[in-house]
Amino acid sequence: MRDRVLVFDTTLRDGEQSPGASMTINDKLMLARQLERLNVDVIEAGFPISSEGDFESVKRIAKEAKTATIAGLARAGKMDIDRCWEAVRFAKKPRIHVFIATSDIHLKYKLKKTRKEVLKAARDAVRYAKSLCPDVEFSAEDATRSDLRFLGEVVQAVIGEGADVVNIPDTVGYTFPTEYGATIRYLRENVPNIREAVLSVHCHNDLGLAVANSLSAIQNGARQVECTVNGIGERAGNASLEEIVMALRTRKDLFSIDTRVNSRELYPSSQMVTNLTGMKVQANKAIVGKNAFAHEAGIHQDGMIKEKLTYEILRPETVGIKESKLIMGKHSGRHALRKKYLELGFKLSDAELEKAYVLFKKVADKKKEVFDEDLIVTVRDALRIAPPVYKLKNIQSTAGNQVIATATVALEKEGRLSRDSAIGDGPVDSALKAIDRITGVEGKLVEYSVHSVTGGRDAVGEVFMKVDFGKASFIGKAASLDIVDASARAYLDAVNKMIHYKMTLDTHNGNARRKKAPAARKKIAAV
Ligand code: KIV
Ligand code: ZN
Repeated sequence: MRDRVLVFDTTLRDGEQSPGASMTINDKLMLARQLERLNVDVIEAGFPISSEGDFESVKRIAKEAKTATIAGLARAGKMDIDRCWEAVRFAKKPRIHVFIATSDIHLKYKLKKTRKEVLKAARDAVRYAKSLCPDVEFSAEDATRSDLRFLGEVVQAVIGEGADVVNIPDTVGYTFPTEYGATIRYLRENVPNIREAVLSVHCHNDLGLAVANSLSAIQNGARQVECTVNGIGERAGNASLEEIVMALRTRKDLFSIDTRVNSRELYPSSQMVTNLTGMKVQANKAIVGKNAFAHEAGIHQDGMIKEKLTYEILRPETVGIKESKLIMGKHSGRHALRKKYLELGFKLSDAELEKAYVLFKKVADKKKEVFDEDLIVTVRDALRIAPPVYKLKNIQSTAGNQVIATATVALEKEGRLSRDSAIGDGPVDSALKAIDRITGVEGKLVEYSVHSVTGGRDAVGEVFMKVDFGKASFIGKAASLDIVDASARAYLDAVNKMIHYKMTLDTHNGNARRKKAPAARKKIAAV
């Protein structure tokens, strides 16, 4: 048996069947390139006969793919198979994936065929596909609700016709891990020619068991797993690629078998799928969710600071996330607070930490999450620093589809007016660049959202943004009738916080140095 699990990604086919997840040809090409970086073995690029767009994207992906096998889906009929071959034939490694349902429910209500007719259709389809393409996969749709002996008969017949891969889909997400494992084992033990093909699994998540079922199948001998990035797909979705890959890798002791996936590309792939489909993953989604590596409880944060193994079974870097996050909230303790201040550049003495901790707890009682800026305000208040701020006096911007976006901004600081202009990618970008030119502080927008506070065409827009300045990031908020004005004010809000931060840091570090100096003098005197 193979000593590796092949990863068959169907984000572009079954994943795209998610309600509201359709992608353009260019989106699909971009995702296919990312899937190759992820190093999946097979990319199911689409269902060529289903539309002109699907046909074109499968063909373009087939032409461009460098390493992965490119599969196209086809029903068990000549027309589908021909169309599929026309699209995948350009690939270095093409595959035709034919399917027909085998459950009595599908036979009676959907296909209106007898078992004998389905068996023949499956055979004919594989034989014909094999006459065109060297690599053919057969799927027995609704396999988990099919009669096991009939399923075995179909599997044996299609392997006899040359199927290289036989897939046993849990089309409606009905099976359970023990049951699915037993099905795979049954096929391995009872189909005489089973070793001539790779056994594949394809699970849907209707009962939330798609990943568990896939893993159970692998434990019982399946060697290809069909899955999607972020688990998107029909209804409740397909088995999530990132969860399967990391489960196998994290529990080598249970599986002693792995995939070839480059796990550092998991998070970038997840982000790309979110951005292309607009389908966000839930915060607590395993592996790629916003909270997957975030720790808030004081006991957990303390454990994490001492040894990450205490509360993390895998490192975020291995899936392409920069690092685990300590979320500062009412459950956080002194250890986490000291670490957070150190990250922000404040080396607090025990007495200072104690003062900051009392203030921090007051803020944390009122807010769900305490941001960097809240912590800085706490220290700033203790040091009584009131730095000057920039105020937006006026802003003028020009943009359109035929002109280069330009903005001119006037800012006031301590009664003095400064004015500058910049060009950029759109009116907001040029306004922010003009602000950077005046303040000398440059931030990177990591989050940006606008929502209307009131209704109608003359609605007031509220802008929220998170700006990264390297060492710390700050939130900026502002509202205005004009989106560019609101964006500039929100950005300036974050820039002012950054300036406060720098001044507070300089003052604190200056104080700390002055306190240390007498001790240093004493040492010199003693020498
Ligand atoms: O869920 C399913 O049965 C499928 C097949 C076409 C493989 O997606
Ligand atoms: Zn499916």
